[in-house]
Amino acid sequence: MATPTSLHEEPVAAQQDGASVIDLEKQYLLQNYARYPLVAHRGKGCYLYDTAGRRYLDLITGIGVNALGHAHPRIVKIIRAQAGLLIHSSNLYYHEYQAPLAKKLAEISGLQRSFFSNSGTESMEGALKMVRAHGHKISPDKFEIVSLENSFHGRTLGALSITGQPNYRQDFEPLLPGVKFVPANDIAALEQAVSERTAGIVLEWIQGEGGIISLNVEYARKARELADRFNALLVFDEIQCGVGRPGTYFSYQLADPPVLPDVIAAAKPLACGLPLGVITANEKAAASIGPGMHGSTFGGGALACRVAIEFFEILDELLPSIRQMGASFRAGLEELAHKFSFIKEIRGEGLMIGLQLDIPGKQFVLDAMEQGMLINCTHDTVLRLLPPYIITQKEIDKAMRGLKKIFKKK
Ligand SMILES: Cc1ncc(COP(=O)(O)O)c(C=O)c1O
Repeated sequence: MATPTSLHEEPVAAQQDGASVIDLEKQYLLQNYARYPLVAHRGKGCYLYDTAGRRYLDLITGIGVNALGHAHPRIVKIIRAQAGLLIHSSNLYYHEYQAPLAKKLAEISGLQRSFFSNSGTESMEGALKMVRAHGHKISPDKFEIVSLENSFHGRTLGALSITGQPNYRQDFEPLLPGVKFVPANDIAALEQAVSERTAGIVLEWIQGEGGIISLNVEYARKARELADRFNALLVFDEIQCGVGRPGTYFSYQLADPPVLPDVIAAAKPLACGLPLGVITANEKAAASIGPGMHGSTFGGGALACRVAIEFFEILDELLPSIRQMGASFRAGLEELAHKFSFIKEIRGEGLMIGLQLDIPGKQFVLDAMEQGMLINCTHDTVLRLLPPYIITQKEIDKAMRGLKKIFKKK
């Protein structure tokens, strides 16, 4: 358990003992997670509080989900109001919020039609079914999918099949046949992999779990060109790198002109912590899914969709600040990189930030917790920051002081 320090300013409230929660989990939960020793109790703005009342500057935001921070007053108000009206009614019936949300997604994405799910991996499953159905219509041999080495698309079997990191896949093989992995930004390898048999190309514009690695715009344009040439669908996984995080609605809009995909998969921040995922597709890709071919009991419930509509209203105003605060954050980190030689590179866009180290990063994550700050490490040597979109210079300055302190210990 972290010990109180200057950043832990919140008075201790009467809460349950964190140690007993951890013991109970050991007894009753699948032991698949390597959790950090923090029992979350509540959150407010950019801060998370544990059961002992300690306060943490939350720079990982539930892995990019709590984009408006914790307990945002407008989100809390909407949840309260809608929970008293209608939480769920299934997709047997209409409700008032799916269509307006889909309309908003169409307006901001440049695509046309949406399907709502409950998570990132489920969105990827929907996208994969679109790809497969699209190929199937053309030829039984058109089922191959080209994906990137080092990518991450989720934990269900379909999404896992196109995840380009063998450690996630190996215990579950054989997975989907016909998946080809190519290195990111290697145009020659992409050209070699895509053929008449390709039904889809799936890309993360910025690899998240892969260590905050961006695609070149030329590479993405080549993927678009090849998808068009071979009548394959181009799918962008915007689950971590999209929905405002890069300072644009979606990361493919960072390119000028944007590289428009046929399908996007999104999730994480959409409903500010309520489970909601989406695939948004152009008419061509959407036409591959006919009546009865896909569905979800929970997907796109009234509560989650209404919250997402409110989220987008807030996001519309926050985009300039995401760009500004992201630039300021990265400038501060560049300064730290000059002081500490084990920081090799600062990467990312907007508020999706990676620090490439040449030493393991896990101890820094633990040290940051001690300092009252939540960060994350991916790929052993990349410190990952996914700060909330509401972050201000005050919290960034605090983060810099905290990071400097933990880096000095090394
Ligand atoms: C790029 C990307 N795709 C898919 C997923 C899977 O999302 P979920 O964990 O909501 O299933 C993630 C999760 O981190 C992700 O980062």
